[in-house]
Amino acid sequence: MKKLIDKLHQEQILSAEEFRTLLTDRSEETDLYARELADQVRQQVYGNQIYVRGLIEFTNYCKNDCYYCGIRRSNRNAQRYRLTEEDILACCKEGYELGFRTFVLQGGEDGYYTDEKLTALIRKIKEVYPDCALTLSIGEKSEESYRAYKEAGADRYLLRHETAREEHYRKLHPEEMSCENRKNCLRTLKKLGYQTGAGFMVGSPYQTIDDLVEDFLFLKELDPEMVGIGPFISHQDTPFHDEKSGTLEDTLFYLALLRLMLPNVLLPATTALGTICPKGRELGVKSGANVVMPNLSPVSVRKKYMLYDGKICTGDEAAECRFCLSRRMELIGCQIVTDRGDYKKVLQ
Ligand code: SAM
Ligand code: FES
Repeated sequence: MKKLIDKLHQEQILSAEEFRTLLTDRSEETDLYARELADQVRQQVYGNQIYVRGLIEFTNYCKNDCYYCGIRRSNRNAQRYRLTEEDILACCKEGYELGFRTFVLQGGEDGYYTDEKLTALIRKIKEVYPDCALTLSIGEKSEESYRAYKEAGADRYLLRHETAREEHYRKLHPEEMSCENRKNCLRTLKKLGYQTGAGFMVGSPYQTIDDLVEDFLFLKELDPEMVGIGPFISHQDTPFHDEKSGTLEDTLFYLALLRLMLPNVLLPATTALGTICPKGRELGVKSGANVVMPNLSPVSVRKKYMLYDGKICTGDEAAECRFCLSRRMELIGCQIVTDRGDYKKVLQ
């Protein structure tokens, strides 16, 4: 097993069969070995610097009905909201003063925000904050729309592929969505020059080792600049309300494998990881993650962007989250930096 971990470290790729073995024949010892190695690779590429992204959850309206997601359109209990341009700019202002140089606009797929409204918003943010990077995370769009956002100034795009195998994808989404379209969107985003983020949920219902093998192989082929993974956590008002959450151990191990396979990748220690374990984000960083994404959304709407039950930090002000994370990172020898935190290719 250690040999396979070393091989992944050196060659940055394994065969499907080797991945299957690596994901199956695990022990506490080999998990730790991978995580320590990944921690070293993170330090080689990014030193002790941790990048922060200010997450602005600007709408929880969504036309999709993903079975796992708390803001799916069928959830009648979700209290829907949209932030105005003014609200969003106020979040950016607060974030900028706290040292954020990347803003992530995330939301459901909300038809209210037409391309016209979105491009105007992107232009405005980039005009006021030319030294900041802007990331979008607003789902599947046409090539034309992605191009319009890019031309308006968007720098990065997060679109988790969720699972790379059609068979598994079908169990997580209704018929109207497809794995192929999601993958094609990611390829388009790369082609258009976005720093692109893909990713999957750890321990989502029906996930098998073969699904995960495909996830790793797909990520290797796509070669994204960012990968977002975090544990699946059930939400009471979804069809998956009784399903088990993904585990801390699995998430940390997969973070480590991702850092070994894509050494330069921007890899967040997610809020979901901090939700299943109080020290989850710190452990994530010590397993190869190098990004944290504190919430900049106004406190008044945070509880409404409930993707899963028990989400942390929904009552805290942006400044509290920012300083809390600084302290947490310092305690593990890392430092949050005021930097756009772009992707850089340090290791070949
Ligand atoms: N609508 C955009 C999209 O589809 O990419 C962005 C918003 S979506 C809520 C962001 C991510 O939340 C999804 O890619 C999914 O992986 C994650 N997510 C949704 N429900 C979750 C759950 N129950 N547990 C953990 N993560 C979840
Ligand atoms: Fe659209 Fe979750 S179903 S954001």
